[in-house]
Amino acid sequence: MQYDFDFFDEPLNRAQSDSIKWRQFPRDIIPLWIADMDFRVSPEITDALVRRAQEGCFGYAAESEAAIQAMIDYHRDVYGIEIEPEWVLPQPGVVTSLNLFCKMLRTLRPETSDVFIGEPVYHHFMSAAELQQIRERRINLAFSGNPLPPLSTLDPCGAGGWMFCNPANPLGHLWSTSELKEVLAFCSENNLFLASDEIHGGLVLDEPFTYTPLLSLAQTEADRSRLMTFVAPSKTWNIPGLGCAFAIVPNPELRHYFSREYDQMVPCVNLFGWVGAEAAYRYGEPWRLGLLAYLRRNRELLQQAAASWHLPLCKLDATYLAFMDCSSLLPQLHGETPAQFFLRHGVALHDGAIFGAPGWVRINIATQTALLEKAIERIGNALASLA
Ligand SMILES: Cc1ncc(COP(=O)(O)O)c(C=O)c1O
Repeated sequence: MQYDFDFFDEPLNRAQSDSIKWRQFPRDIIPLWIADMDFRVSPEITDALVRRAQEGCFGYAAESEAAIQAMIDYHRDVYGIEIEPEWVLPQPGVVTSLNLFCKMLRTLRPETSDVFIGEPVYHHFMSAAELQQIRERRINLAFSGNPLPPLSTLDPCGAGGWMFCNPANPLGHLWSTSELKEVLAFCSENNLFLASDEIHGGLVLDEPFTYTPLLSLAQTEADRSRLMTFVAPSKTWNIPGLGCAFAIVPNPELRHYFSREYDQMVPCVNLFGWVGAEAAYRYGEPWRLGLLAYLRRNRELLQQAAASWHLPLCKLDATYLAFMDCSSLLPQLHGETPAQFFLRHGVALHDGAIFGAPGWVRINIATQTALLEKAIERIGNALASLA
């Protein structure tokens, strides 16, 4: 099978299906908001799911050693990291892990449970802290260059952890080794637990670059024991609806805490989640590489359009979520947000405010190029209407 542009150009009628992305807004709106892709998945994934469905019996599924091993092998082969099988805690989703991390801080570090969060970031970082009733310490990330401020300016007093997004959503930033080392060193100096959400790790757009898992830099036992890494095949291979993720927790005490906490409250991974994850990690690499080429083409289109609109776009090194600064439009929008304004002109984008950046919009470019072109045209027409 060739994963060329023709493969990804094939339109899918998601509006007729059960897609949140496509059902949230009226049919004439082009939905470029929530983070899933409008592409057919790798056929090996579909075949594996069909084979499992044809068994015709769907009782409780045992933990899939095959899926866990496929994830471990993939991370060793592609990123050169060794993950011990006993470090792996299967999870129904990464948001669950973010919440468990915050709950753990509140329980194990009641006096120092504040959590550092670099902002802007995926909104469930903030909601996890709120829901688990711990205080956030927001770190203002820069929108270009190295996003981190000098970490010596941060006050660690009362803090017990840091939730980090690697690569960064919605900044699209691919953290360099030296930036990641700074974060690790800060956590080590201040005895912080570090949760690294690496769900977008497979979506570094410019080959041969890959992202750097924080685990690959955690050389000492002490560093490893403060680190939890959350990975999933869901974003990279477009299977978020299957609900399968992994928390990688080298520290046995933290592992014990995590498994005790979710044992009865959080459902185990759905049996189709196991099947999809195993197929994605084992057989999905050619599809992923084809996808990256397609996303690069879409990125180029959007970059050209944004330049012609004079709207700054963050450098999109990783993820398929572009972040655009529309704050210069605010004086002309009479109280509307840019996302509301573009929605009125037929394109649904995520409002940057939910990620901590009002005036910005997040644009999901993982759709057919023809549809992205149509959305770009609508955005262009909307902007022309302001002139
Ligand atoms: C950084 C990040 N973490 C987690 C998630 C969601 O993870 P899950 O669906 O596995 O809960 C997303 C979804 O967009 C995300 O961007």
